[in-house]
Amino acid sequence: MDYSVKSGNPEKQRVACVVAGVFDHRRLRGAAADIDRVSGGYISAIARRGDMDGKVGQSVLLHNVPNTLCDRVLLVGCGRERQFDDKAYRRVNSQAAKVLANYGARDAVSFLTDLHVRGRDISWKVRTAVEVTEHALYRFEEFRSEKEEPPRPLRRMTFGTPSRRELPAGEQAIAVGRATAAGVKLARDLGNTPGNVCTPTYLAERAFQIGREKADLKVRVLEEKEMTELGMGALLSVSRGSSEPAKLILIEYQGGRPEDRPYALVGKGVTFDAGGISLKPAAAMDEMKFDMCGAAAVFGSISAVADLRLPINVVGVVPCSENLPDGAANKPGDIVRTMSGQTVEVLNTDAEGRLLLCDALTYSERYKPLTVIDIATLTGACIIALGHEASAVYANDSSLARALVAAGEASGDRGWEMPLWDEYKEQLKSNFADTANVGGRPAGSITAACFLSRFTGEMRWAHLDIAGTAWKSGKEKGATGRPVPMLLEYLLERAQRH
Ligand code: BES
Ligand code: MN
Ligand code: ZN
Repeated sequence: MDYSVKSGNPEKQRVACVVAGVFDHRRLRGAAADIDRVSGGYISAIARRGDMDGKVGQSVLLHNVPNTLCDRVLLVGCGRERQFDDKAYRRVNSQAAKVLANYGARDAVSFLTDLHVRGRDISWKVRTAVEVTEHALYRFEEFRSEKEEPPRPLRRMTFGTPSRRELPAGEQAIAVGRATAAGVKLARDLGNTPGNVCTPTYLAERAFQIGREKADLKVRVLEEKEMTELGMGALLSVSRGSSEPAKLILIEYQGGRPEDRPYALVGKGVTFDAGGISLKPAAAMDEMKFDMCGAAAVFGSISAVADLRLPINVVGVVPCSENLPDGAANKPGDIVRTMSGQTVEVLNTDAEGRLLLCDALTYSERYKPLTVIDIATLTGACIIALGHEASAVYANDSSLARALVAAGEASGDRGWEMPLWDEYKEQLKSNFADTANVGGRPAGSITAACFLSRFTGEMRWAHLDIAGTAWKSGKEKGATGRPVPMLLEYLLERAQRH
């Protein structure tokens, strides 16, 4: 889709559709008030008739509104004016996009960006509108024989700014919104791709492809042989039960000076998690194709950073494997040696993500990163703790934790900080090795994070457990692309300091 910004009167727009918001109790502001005035009270008459009183979720499509140059006016209910916050703003933009996609409008000018959102400027509103629109129009149809492409799809979306003065900021906001949306789409596409297609080898190929397409990206892939030489016994123990070879994908983006220390992103890439010998129950096991959503978020974030040519260095370290049971698979009680030298007793082969991540974290030390953030669909316990609203944020550095939580707040992709107290580390004691890979049922997301913290050396490190946020189940089953918006917001913020 083509996005742009412009300032001008809503009634003068020669387009298929003009979008205007109406607040609860039929309060007309901005574009809705303007159109009402030029049309001799046409909108207020419709509102009085009861078709639009401004409740959230309402929408009315009007044709041939007097004294306007557009074919249609779409009114969207925005709820109480005083409560028009980030969430309401996202919701009405999403709704507008869905309505537009269902009609024959090829182009539209939306004045929702003109509405006042508490504490948010035009840049935030334009950028968010682009992200939300792309999110709402997303479809994943690669594996359908008949695509549901509408006959006259929406092609061009323009967002109104209050005056010409905001246009440069608006243009920049469109670039950020587009890059974020593209990163989210990449993460969703990868997540939704089934496990028989999306294997570690497939992810490696996709990484090479992204590396060819974008400037300043270098991609390397370590094979099992090289990982053996590096001593990555934990990572390799996971892929032993699978006929698909493990891959360690390295994506290096250099937008800063060569000597600048990078930001490292480490993503769990389990392309299917059956649990291994500690086999999972059958119910909803298909959803374990999403167990590579951490990897997908690294791909999506770095590709957005490259699109925006941010003046920083970023490195993605993505360990990929399947987790399946067979004669060579990890067995409960097996002891493996990690690249760090520590030994791990694998008490549960289904706690495989941390076995991949510990070696990937040790590997990322060689980049001397400014910060290292790992992203993983790591524990079912995380869903018990935080549900599907927030990703769990853990960090050994409080300013990093704060920055990630703030980035989540700004991008609508929230995180919530969790404790990494020493008391929890007790649960990981092993009678036979340096540590066990599981810490029992209580605080399962926390003990998983505690396990990882043993492998972070001197690095400033954060861990995002995205088990509850990376995909949706049920009727809306599918990858969400989270936490790409949070990560990108964090990196944008860091880039501004350069
Ligand atoms: N990929 C799963 C975590 C998961 C499960 C995410 C369900 C989302 C939904 C992970 O590899 C896993 O199996 N974790 C175990 C750990 C346990 C054995 C300590 C879990 O959460 O059950
Ligand atoms: Mn598992
Ligand atoms: Zn897993």
